[in-house]
Amino acid sequence: MPSFQFPIHLLTFLYFSLIAVSTAASRRSFEVGVYSTRNALIDVCNSGNYQIINVVFTVSLGNAQTPEINLIDHCNSTAVDGCTKFSQEIKACQASGIKIMLSVGGGSGKYNLNNFTEATNFSTYLWNNFLGGQSNSRPLNDVVFDGVDITNERSSWDNWSKLGEELGKLYEKQGKKFYLSAAPQCSSLDSSSQSIPQPGIFDYISVQFFGDNLVCQYLNGRFEGFWKFWNVWKTFSADKVFVQMLAGPMAEDMGYIPPDVFRSEVLPELQRSSKFGGVILWSEDIDKGYSSKINPKVCGSVEAASESANEIAEFPMGNNYVGQRGFRSCRGSCVL
Ligand SMILES: *[C@@H]1O[C@H](CO)[C@@H](O)[C@H](O)[C@H]1NC(C)=O
Ligand SMILES: *[C@@H]1O[C@H](CO)[C@@H](O)[C@H](O)[C@H]1NC(C)=O
Ligand SMILES: *[C@@H]1O[C@H](CO)[C@@H](O)[C@H](O)[C@H]1NC(C)=O
Ligand SMILES: *[C@@H]1O[C@H](CO)[C@@H](O)[C@H](O)[C@H]1NC(C)=O
Repeated sequence: MPSFQFPIHLLTFLYFSLIAVSTAASRRSFEVGVYSTRNALIDVCNSGNYQIINVVFTVSLGNAQTPEINLIDHCNSTAVDGCTKFSQEIKACQASGIKIMLSVGGGSGKYNLNNFTEATNFSTYLWNNFLGGQSNSRPLNDVVFDGVDITNERSSWDNWSKLGEELGKLYEKQGKKFYLSAAPQCSSLDSSSQSIPQPGIFDYISVQFFGDNLVCQYLNGRFEGFWKFWNVWKTFSADKVFVQMLAGPMAEDMGYIPPDVFRSEVLPELQRSSKFGGVILWSEDIDKGYSSKINPKVCGSVEAASESANEIAEFPMGNNYVGQRGFRSCRGSCVL
């Protein structure tokens, strides 16, 4: 009777695969994104420090006004060729593998979504003017953003989740992958379910761990609140959960985590979760070296001698960076 013998080479293979997996898991790759509030988008992209850029616009909508996105900080769409340069910059950034997201919402501006009708209406407006749809008044012409980031600092997410849901339906009709992200406050877990984005709608969320969120942000050198809330947020129903944090010290008690502390005390723990997508920084104009101090870790896992670079270059958001694309931040330290 033939006895089954486990082939020894297969065992050896399994053994080494396990080592490879555990090493990779402990140094899981992540992406760094940033909110860009100024006009020098091409410089932000060329820094090589970011894989995602949320371009901030102010919005006027709600109360039956015609929805409108104010581009003034970036370009003037009513001036002749006023947005040509900006449009070209977006395309150049996208061509180098960086995702450019349209960020709507924010802490200021005349905006509210009073009901589902307004949310649906706004989704159509965004789709036709900035995404895969068509309109004869596209402010940035044929620029197609990679997705929409919703930052809602009003109390309720109900109609902003509806906006996301409606955008998702429009996205589905198109073959191209568009991303949807939501940026809730870390502390908003405490109250009603309307205070957080609706689960299952967004591709990723970036939880704001700074500002007035004293219960959950880094405070006086202590991380208790941070970890308590991260442990809940990391189970949120989205493909990835990003940590949104300050790129520079602002006022005291704003939750700024110095980059060396972030690298040594925070990142290794975040990387233990397969849901961890990376870091989104607020904002580019206060990022004086923060992203470059933490970013080598993005490809820090891709070591010069690594033979499994392909495996490791599998990025959380499903980006498939071919060759050098998106890896300019690696500087000399990684070979792809
Ligand atoms: C939605 O809200 C707007 C502004 O408050 C109002 O004009 C409109 O009638 C509302 N639509 C519905 C269906 O409630
Ligand atoms: C829907 O959008 C149109 C223009 O895009 C605007 O004129 C109308 O007031 C909006 N309606 C609501 C209810 O927001
Ligand atoms: C935008 O361009 C229009 C047309 O040239 C001009 O009237 C307007 O003042 C400009 N706005 C700003 C804020 O520069
Ligand atoms: C969102 O829409 C619903 C239903 O259309 C409405 O009842 C609710 O008041 C709106 N929420 C806010 C915060 O405006």
